[in-house]
Amino acid sequence: MRKPFLAGNWKMNLDRARSLALAKSLREKCGSRTDREVAVCPPFVYLDEIVRALAGSKIRVGAQNCSDEVEGAFTGEISARMLKDVGVSLVVLGHSERRHLYGESDALINRKVRQALVAGLDVILCVGELLAERDQGVTEHVVSRQLTKGLEGVDEPDLARVTIAYEPVWAIGTGRTASPEQAGEVHTYLRGVLAGLYTDATAATVRIQYGGSVKPDNISSLMAAPNVDGALVGGAALKLESFLPIVEYK
Ligand code: PGA
Repeated sequence: MRKPFLAGNWKMNLDRARSLALAKSLREKCGSRTDREVAVCPPFVYLDEIVRALAGSKIRVGAQNCSDEVEGAFTGEISARMLKDVGVSLVVLGHSERRHLYGESDALINRKVRQALVAGLDVILCVGELLAERDQGVTEHVVSRQLTKGLEGVDEPDLARVTIAYEPVWAIGTGRTASPEQAGEVHTYLRGVLAGLYTDATAATVRIQYGGSVKPDNISSLMAAPNVDGALVGGAALKLESFLPIVEYK
């Protein structure tokens, strides 16, 4: 049984006071839920404080990126080990904004995935096609490549610490959500790719989140789609009024 996993990606939003207030409200409202997993991914500079604000609750704290290097002369970078050191337990890697705005390649993302796992962090590995790729009918090809290359060198025990997020780029921040049918199709396909890379039994344990304009009014239908095990939420994760109903979807 895969426990639903709802994660909020705050991106480069909020400030210190609002981040802290949101974390504290979430702690109060859903900090002891054990039937689903909840995580927030604040900007780097607030991680330490948010980890402390959520300590002792069930809400996990994730980062939005990490370096592919262990340590050294890499100005501006943050290592997976540093994240672990301040109590972060999870990192989002391969987000489409990293891939498309900052030119991150599958190979770079794979190095980050392996660094994160070695440092003891869990990983949310994002995959997703551009609108032009969907229109050309190459969605499966794109997400299969991103998944396969992203997981290169990741063995079966480590895969237990990886969640996949399917985020069609055309649905991110656009208000245009994939239909539950579209999400279900790709999620089912991705699970098949995982089965080919590992085994059927292992693939059946991996959670696959959907991301892209998830809102309180579409979460239930998305979660009802086959192989959708959670959500990676951007805009709607910035306010308690919209994130809480997503966490508490029925
Ligand atoms: P959105 O972002 O919910 O604002 O579309 C999702 C994401 O990028 O993870």
